Amino acid sequence: MQTRSQTASETLYERANQVLPGGVSRNTVLRRPHPLYAAHAKGCRITDVDGVERIDFANNMASLIHGHAHPAIVAAVSEQLQRGTAYTMATEIELRYAEYLCSRSPGFDQLRFVNSGTEAVMGALKAARAFTGRSKIAKVEGTYHGLYDFAEVSQTASPATWGSVDAPESVPVAHGTPRSVLDDVVVVPLNDVQRSVDILTRHAGEIACVLLDVMPHRAGLIPADRGFVAALAQWAKSDGALVVCDEVITFRTTYGGAQQRYDLTPDLTAMGKIVGGGFPVGAIAGRREVMELMNPHGDNYLLPYSGTFSANPITMTAGLTAMRLFDNDEIERVNRLGRLTMEGLRSVIHARGYDASITGAGSLFRIHMQSDAPTNYRDSFPSFDAGERLQAFFDSLLDQGILLVYSGTGAISTAMGERDVEQLIGAVDSALASLG
Ligand SMILES: Cc1ncc(COP(=O)(O)O)c(C=O)c1O
Repeated sequence: MQTRSQTASETLYERANQVLPGGVSRNTVLRRPHPLYAAHAKGCRITDVDGVERIDFANNMASLIHGHAHPAIVAAVSEQLQRGTAYTMATEIELRYAEYLCSRSPGFDQLRFVNSGTEAVMGALKAARAFTGRSKIAKVEGTYHGLYDFAEVSQTASPATWGSVDAPESVPVAHGTPRSVLDDVVVVPLNDVQRSVDILTRHAGEIACVLLDVMPHRAGLIPADRGFVAALAQWAKSDGALVVCDEVITFRTTYGGAQQRYDLTPDLTAMGKIVGGGFPVGAIAGRREVMELMNPHGDNYLLPYSGTFSANPITMTAGLTAMRLFDNDEIERVNRLGRLTMEGLRSVIHARGYDASITGAGSLFRIHMQSDAPTNYRDSFPSFDAGERLQAFFDSLLDQGILLVYSGTGAISTAMGERDVEQLIGAVDSALASLG
């Protein structure tokens, strides 16, 4: 019998396992039996080291709003590269980009650039604690806000650990998370106004901020109800707590971020992903009075904040170029493609009578292997069977030239058009047929 020869990705993965735990630096690229290794990418197409080209709906975890190697970004960054990549001096490009982002949202009086979404959320939570003098953080069950100890609590809660919905447990992600961290995180259920307000009220006067993502990806990419967002913001206001909005993913949905759609003006907003124009980034923006906590020359300097690579000129150049190109017309165009995608996917699922559903909004969508679209984290928690079907589904799409995020999530980029969406919908239809 002829043996199959190893693919280039398999060979690299064997080597990688010797020096990288699990063979990778980030679990997001892992898949069984091995990750695919990228060779190059352009626009909405990515080619792996075995020469297979796919349409990229993963877009580096929804961070590439213009797809890969956009000519304007490549040109601007190439020019900046010649002039240096990082200085122990402030830069004009950092100032220009801060002015530009502040002009996009009425809630952004001031802004600080950091290096990741994790760091932006961490900085915002620290600022909320410094401003209020309180230590507790409230967050929605199952939401992903990056790796900061407090922000990651409950992100991987499971039926065995999550406790009663009337008082969800603070479940650690990392072994060894101090008990004091868990005690300082109050967990509320998504879209359940009464329970959430009751839980928050039990901690009245102790909560520094309510941390909100209005469409939390890990909790199911379910748009939060307007009433839920308004009730939590109202509760925070009346209790003297701040509202911190995590727009690391959702900023792409509207010109001034998803908060604009909810008529929400948070005290602080954490950003990341698309605002880096393809490079590592985070940003904390918000109300002047709160942001001034970071001003060493101010009257209320309570939060020292620095970072070696914060506001590095490469990211600033790429980010400003990318965000200027992502104007209202382009936002409307990708959101329209997002609507077409979700409608098309719902229609093939319906026609096949398959146990699957779609959530999402704007240019983001997610496929769940359950017939009713989930409404909160507990609802969206996949059964073993659904997990297996998702893996088979994902593999079938890969074979048909489509790359999604492993969770079944996709992000439209401006490099895409209707034909790419049609190709995705056709591939999903075939994948569902093959799953039977
Ligand atoms: C909503 C949200 N917040 C924070 C983060 C963390 O961002 P980063 O991966 O840049 O640290 C992510 C990353 O996926 C995210 O989706």
